[in-house]
Amino acid sequence: MTGLENKIDKSKLPCHIAIIMDGNGRWAKERGSHRIFGHQNGVTAVKEAVEGAGELGVRYLTLYAFSKENWCRPQEEINALMDLMVSTINSETETLIKNNVRLLVIGDIKSLPESIVKKLNEVIERTSLNDGLTLIVALSYGARWEIANAAGRIAEDVVAGRIEKEAIDETLFSKYLLTSGIPDPELLIRTSGEFRISNFLLWQIAYTEMYFSATLWPDFRKEHLYEAIIDFQSRERRFGKTSEQLNCD
Ligand code: IPE
Ligand code: IPE
Ligand code: MG
Repeated sequence: MTGLENKIDKSKLPCHIAIIMDGNGRWAKERGSHRIFGHQNGVTAVKEAVEGAGELGVRYLTLYAFSKENWCRPQEEINALMDLMVSTINSETETLIKNNVRLLVIGDIKSLPESIVKKLNEVIERTSLNDGLTLIVALSYGARWEIANAAGRIAEDVVAGRIEKEAIDETLFSKYLLTSGIPDPELLIRTSGEFRISNFLLWQIAYTEMYFSATLWPDFRKEHLYEAIIDFQSRERRFGKTSEQLNCD
C-alpha cells in the first residue's frame, strides 16, 4: 500500500468517478512518435484506473474513450483507435471477469464498427452479473446528442400517450439518458492540463467536483487517482446551501 492510499478515507469514497482521458497525442509527440503510440500507451493507464478504482471499492467508473467529435480525426487515427479497442477488449475480458467488474457502454453505439459492437455486447453479457466495480466506457459519446435524443424519446412517449407532459421533471428526464440508473459522478478528472468538458456528461455533472491534472493520460497511475480522491475528500460540497447549514444537519 502506498503512502497516498493510506490518506484516503474509505468511508467517504466518491461513489462514481468519471475521467476524461486526454493527452495521448501530446505524450507521443514529446517522444517524437506518432499519436497512435500515445493511444497504445494509454491502455496501461486505463488498466491502472480500473484496477485502482476497483481495489478501493469505488462503485462506478466512467471513462471517456471516444467522443462523437473524435470521428473528425484523420481516418488512420480512427482506425488505429478502433483496432486498439478490439485488442484491448480481447486481452482484458478475462481480467474484468476475474476482478468482478461489470462493463457497460454509453454512446452512439450504432455508429461503431460491427466487430466492436459484437465484442462489446459479448463482454457486457458475460459481466452482467458481476457486482464489483461498474466500468462504463463512453464510446462515440456526446452529451448534447444524448440530451437531444432523450428529449426526442420523451416527445414520442407524450405523443403516444405513454406519459403526461406534466410528468416531465428532472427525475423523469434522467431516466431517458443513457446513464439511467447510474448515480451522477461525484468526481470528474481530466488529464493533460486542459480545462474543459468537451461534451462529456453535461447533464450528469451539474454538481460534480472537478479535478484537473497536468499529467498526460499515458502517464496516469493509481497514485494520480489517489491524489484526485484525496483532493475531493478535502472539499465541502454545499449543493447551494451555506456551510453553516451543512454543519448543523
Ligand atoms: C485522448 O488523447 C484520446 C482520445 C481523445 C481518443 P488525445 O488523442 O486527445 O491526445 P491530445 O489531446 O491530442 O494530446
Ligand atoms: C475529449 O478529448 C474526448 C476524449 C477524451 C475521448 P479531446 O482531445 O477530443 O477534446 P478536445 O478536442 O481537446 O476538447
Ligand atoms: Mg485531446
